[in-house]
Amino acid sequence: MRIDVVTLFPGMFEGPMSESIIKRAQEAEVLDLRITDLRDYTKDKHRKVDDRPFGGGAGMVIRAEVVFDCLDAMELAPGARVILTDPQGVTFDQKLAIELSEAPQLVFLCGHYEGFDERVREHLVTDEISIGDYVLTGGELPAMVMIDSVVRLLPGAVGKIESTHEDSFYAGILDYPHYTRPESYRDWEVPEILRSGNHQAIARWRREQALLRTFERRPDLLDRAPLSKDDRKFLRERCGWESPV
Ligand code: ADE
Repeated sequence: MRIDVVTLFPGMFEGPMSESIIKRAQEAEVLDLRITDLRDYTKDKHRKVDDRPFGGGAGMVIRAEVVFDCLDAMELAPGARVILTDPQGVTFDQKLAIELSEAPQLVFLCGHYEGFDERVREHLVTDEISIGDYVLTGGELPAMVMIDSVVRLLPGAVGKIESTHEDSFYAGILDYPHYTRPESYRDWEVPEILRSGNHQAIARWRREQALLRTFERRPDLLDRAPLSKDDRKFLRERCGWESPV
């Protein structure tokens, strides 16, 4: 997958994008990540990319021409998603991460306190996405959050793709608890069943733990999660939970 980032602060990406899975995905050529400094596309001799707003008021606005010139130079693949990071956009979640991981190319336009000229939003951007109901100083961190969650879904990026299938949210519910050695630490024991070698019983225990945890922490997820008859029975008997449908 090709991912382009258009930013006024390319240096922010140096550390986070060259470690761990993102680094490995690039080395394995699963990911072609390119960070572009928007200032390289201005014709202004002082490298200015913004101008005063029509109609007056405080703040500056990033000029449409710079952004269009930058994306024209990129030659977008058919089906490319051009994403504006914006607290006013739709809220990012695992479902959207999966959808984006299936696109041939993603372009992140990192928004800033000074917005883009509205014609960028109208004629270039395909998606406006927020990472949550809080305001950050710029779109760089949101772009990195989204890139991280998308890249780990690409085949070949994570050692075993099945490990992403067990993620919290992948199956619509939270994750079950994990343990490793030692069996006893400060008198806290690993649950007996995990040491039993009974794989079927372990799978059922894990599923039930995931259901319990979801009921306790995020009951809203249960209303939308794909649940089996056994799951529903367990939740009804153990927690008194009733499916709304
Ligand atoms: N820019 C500033 N805050 C943001 C947020 N929460 N999500 C996406 N982009 C942003």
